[in-house]
Amino acid sequence: MTYRVRQHLDPLYALFGIFWQRVSQCRPEREPGATSRWLTEQWNFYRAWRANPRGIGAVLPSSPALAAAITREIRPEDGPVLELGSGTGVFTRALLARGVAQEDLALIEMDEAFARQLAERFPRAQVCQADAGKLMAVPLFGGRQAASAVCGLPLLNFPVRQQAHIMRSTFSHLQPGGACYLFTYGWRCPISPRALSRLGLRARRTRVVYLNVPPAQVWKITRRRRWID
Ligand SMILES: C[S@@+](CC[C@H](N)C(=O)[O-])C[C@H]1O[C@@H](n2cnc3c(N)ncnc32)[C@H](O)[C@@H]1O
Repeated sequence: MTYRVRQHLDPLYALFGIFWQRVSQCRPEREPGATSRWLTEQWNFYRAWRANPRGIGAVLPSSPALAAAITREIRPEDGPVLELGSGTGVFTRALLARGVAQEDLALIEMDEAFARQLAERFPRAQVCQADAGKLMAVPLFGGRQAASAVCGLPLLNFPVRQQAHIMRSTFSHLQPGGACYLFTYGWRCPISPRALSRLGLRARRTRVVYLNVPPAQVWKITRRRRWID
C-alpha cells in the first residue's frame, strides 16, 4: 500500500478502534493480564493488516457478536472443531465458551505471529501454521473427523480456485453430516456458486450481524450429496 493511502488509513484505523470498543463492548476481560493480552492482540492485528491487507481482509478483529453468531450451532458433544484463519482467537474463545475443549480444537493460521500467539494462549489446542487450502495431508485430531469448521478467512479476497481448495480441504476433515460456518461482508455467499456445485455443497445464510465493523452475514455450508474427491 502506498504511503499516501496509509497516511489516511492509520488515523481512521485508530478512530475505528475507539468506536469499536464503545459500540461492540469489545473490552478486555476482567482477569489478570487481560489488558496487556488484549493490547498485544490489537497490535498484532494492526501489524498483520498493514503487512498483508488482502490476507487479513478486515480493519479490525471480528466482534464478540459475530463470534457468538458463527459458533452458535456448535455443540461440544458432536466432536472436534476445525478453525481456519484464527487470527487473534476471537472465534476460538467463543468456541471455548460454548464448552468445546481445547483438545478438540485445531487452529489453522498462516501468519507466523498469530500462530505463535495462539499456541501460547491455547496450549492444549493443535495450532498449525499452515495454508487452509492445503490441509488434506495434515493429520488432525489423531485421525478423528471434525464435526464442524469455523472459518475466519477473508474468502471474498480469494480467487475461485483457492476458495475451492479451501472447501475441499476442509470437508476432507469433516464427518459426513459436518458443517462449515463462515462469514462475509458481502450480500451473497462468498464461495462462488460454481465452486459449491462442483464440490457438491450447498450454502444457507443463518445470521446477519450488525454489531461488527463492517456488518457481516454468517453462512452454513453442508454437503449436498456424496462427497466427490
Ligand atoms: C479476518 S482475519 C481474522 C480472523 C479472526 N476471526 C479475528 O477476528 O481475529 C483472517 C485471518 O486469516 C488468516 N489467513 C489468511 N489467509 C489464510 C490461509 N490461506 N490459511 C490460513 N490462514 C489464513 C490471516 O492471517 C488472518 O489471521
